[in-house]
Amino acid sequence: MAVPAAGRGLRFGSAENKIWAEVAGQSILSRTLQCLQDHPEVDVVVLAGSATDLERLREVSQTFSKVAAVVEGGATRAESVLQAIRALPVDCETVLVHDAARPVPSQEMISRVIASVTNRGSGIPALAVSDTIKRCDADQKIHETVSRESLYRVQTPQGVRRADILSAYDKLGDAVSSCTDEAAVLESAGYSAYIVEGDPNNIKVTTPADIEYLEQRLSRTEKQSLSLPVIRTGFGYDVHQFAEGRELWLGGVNIPHSRGLLGHSDADVMLHAVCDALLGAAAMGDIGVLFPDTDQKHKDRPSIEFVTEVQGRLEADGWQISNVDIALLAEEPRVMPYRSQICKVIADGLQIDQSQVNLKATTAEKMGFVGRKEGVACWAVATIVRGPAFSAG
Ligand code: CTP
Ligand code: MG
Repeated sequence: MAVPAAGRGLRFGSAENKIWAEVAGQSILSRTLQCLQDHPEVDVVVLAGSATDLERLREVSQTFSKVAAVVEGGATRAESVLQAIRALPVDCETVLVHDAARPVPSQEMISRVIASVTNRGSGIPALAVSDTIKRCDADQKIHETVSRESLYRVQTPQGVRRADILSAYDKLGDAVSSCTDEAAVLESAGYSAYIVEGDPNNIKVTTPADIEYLEQRLSRTEKQSLSLPVIRTGFGYDVHQFAEGRELWLGGVNIPHSRGLLGHSDADVMLHAVCDALLGAAAMGDIGVLFPDTDQKHKDRPSIEFVTEVQGRLEADGWQISNVDIALLAEEPRVMPYRSQICKVIADGLQIDQSQVNLKATTAEKMGFVGRKEGVACWAVATIVRGPAFSAG
């Protein structure tokens, strides 16, 4: 991992390099290095700093065992990156370059970048541009609207093959100074570069306002992880229409009825709402993403298997399920006779106690699609808890 840190931070406007500015009690540089230190696939880090910062950089590096060298950077970012790459051990075939000024790269994003270098020779974290883009002249007069369709803004860490980037530098010579990222070095020298999904939180500290933003975000999450359990609530909704010739499955229980519900799996509307509530609470997307109905392997699948899988995913992420509350809207059949059975099946699927699951049902008073007995709808909320990362005190 090559980390350019030799900028001047002109836009930041402080007397010293912006990497020394503190966010919630820790410098930008220390935060950046900690993220790299924490990643299991990052072996070695080399820092490129300006001459005036070298001593201080070496001192800070003492605390991070992966930092193998601190070298002097150059007049441009590209030059600083080259110095850092040259100081990496020769057996580093995959090189990631990460701006010291980006203190919160996510571990998942670093993994995506590394995987992309393995698979395609490069990995450039990128986010689609969502604002409308204008091209203007020096007088701020708008000349055209640029289609944003294929536009991305890119971040670091950018992953490349060491051999490729070094020969790209060789090929470009002095022209490299106009390249502001590694992708530009590769593209300009005729190599392909591929994007991977970036991270909207991975901001580059450029002005003091960025520090304020990070301060708020980090102090909040750090305080939480230090002393408080994280409690999340999720909401799920699903609806299925009745169909002849199908079994009726509600809450994992086969309920005798003249019609069943239509759907790719067993169409258990209640379990689908429960899964969505849990996935929502854990910010893991929804059931359609996990078990797409375009996938034949989910056809006629019992939905209780989805519940088990969702429970497994939550558990793997450290979540405990606190409770699930369900409201079913159905004109027929009456489900209350099955209430206890349903709660037990759901509780067993979620590996919680039956007292943590509640089911309510109501008719729609003959109104709307439910009232006309065209189908049933179900809502669920779930609360999940993750303990504090470290015990306080
Ligand atoms: N960088 C570097 N060598 C340079 C210029 C920049 O190592 N000659 C590093 C910076 O320290 C930073 C990263 O490249 O970690 C991204 O650059 P940028 O955000 O532009 O930082 P600065 O150049 O320091 O800021 P400014 O452009 O506002 O002066
Ligand atoms: Mg700069």
